Amino acid sequence: MSDVATVESDGLARVAAASTLAELRAVEQELVGGKRSGLAALNSRLGQLPIEERKEAGRAVNAARARVEAAIAERAEKLAAVEREARLEAERLDLTEVLERRRAVAGHRHLVTQARDELEDLFVAMGYEVAEGPEVETDWYNFEALNMPPAHPARSMWDTLYVKLGAPESTLLRTHTSPVQIRVMQRQAPPIYVVAPGRCYRRDTPDARHLPVFHQIEGLVVDRGITFGDLAGTIEAFTGAYFGPTIHSRLRPSFFPFTEPSAEFEVSCIFCEGRGCRVCSQSGWIELGGCGMVDPNVLDAVGIDAEEYSGFAFGFGIDRCAMMRHDIDDIRHFIANDIRFLEQF
Ligand code: DAH
Repeated sequence: MSDVATVESDGLARVAAASTLAELRAVEQELVGGKRSGLAALNSRLGQLPIEERKEAGRAVNAARARVEAAIAERAEKLAAVEREARLEAERLDLTEVLERRRAVAGHRHLVTQARDELEDLFVAMGYEVAEGPEVETDWYNFEALNMPPAHPARSMWDTLYVKLGAPESTLLRTHTSPVQIRVMQRQAPPIYVVAPGRCYRRDTPDARHLPVFHQIEGLVVDRGITFGDLAGTIEAFTGAYFGPTIHSRLRPSFFPFTEPSAEFEVSCIFCEGRGCRVCSQSGWIELGGCGMVDPNVLDAVGIDAEEYSGFAFGFGIDRCAMMRHDIDDIRHFIANDIRFLEQF
């Protein structure tokens, strides 16, 4: 009986000590497995006992076997759980996604819009206000009020796109921003200091320097005692501010029906800084726009007393300014929507 107790307690200790399932299976084999196992050996010794002790001893061996087997089962369950846990831990896949710190991709203003905003800012800094007018205009605003009565030869300076509305050729897409001068003077008494940027339309075949839709910015000043010197100084101020202090301007006599005298203004070539190159045809100057003193007939058309007030006006291409400053050789880049072009600015 004491051997049974020894085999049992020794067996239970070994079961408890097994640290892996494989180890436990080996211990199980030795304790309760085949004919050579510890408890089988005890069974085989039962035959040596006197018959009256045999029954009790047999029961004791069976009871011991049952307890050892229960202990093995319990231990197996525990080790299986531990091993399963370890396997899961080992097989764990790290699915953490490490996100690069990326800035949200935002669009940006088109280069022409940037140039418009910058030019507006320059004039606002000089005390001007920003005005707007419609892109679909009447003949009166686009031509007649600007001192071009019907059939005036100067109208041919602008190839006009007409809109099918009202009397033939009475409604058009404005060919320049100059009609905004008229609208401003109609709603506002002098002193007037405004710039009016916007889209213009002409019946032009697209090429490197022309598009049927382009942008101008118009300037208008009407006040007491305004002189041609004020005009020249204003143009020198804004061209220097936009293109840089090494760039200067000059005025050359010209003709526009709505100004008298009229001038074309030029800036020193930003590519050669006036020394002469291919872009400026060796002249050192690049033409930018038109300007002049507001013709008294224009002031009359909007009821401003030309005896009391005088003014100057100017108009030039925004697209052209951006092209010059950024060395862009073809105006069609602006509307091609090629992201590789647009992203550069
Ligand atoms: N409107 C003219 C054009 O598109 C440019 C211009 C010339 C505007 C003289 C003016 C000006 O205000 O005074 O060709």
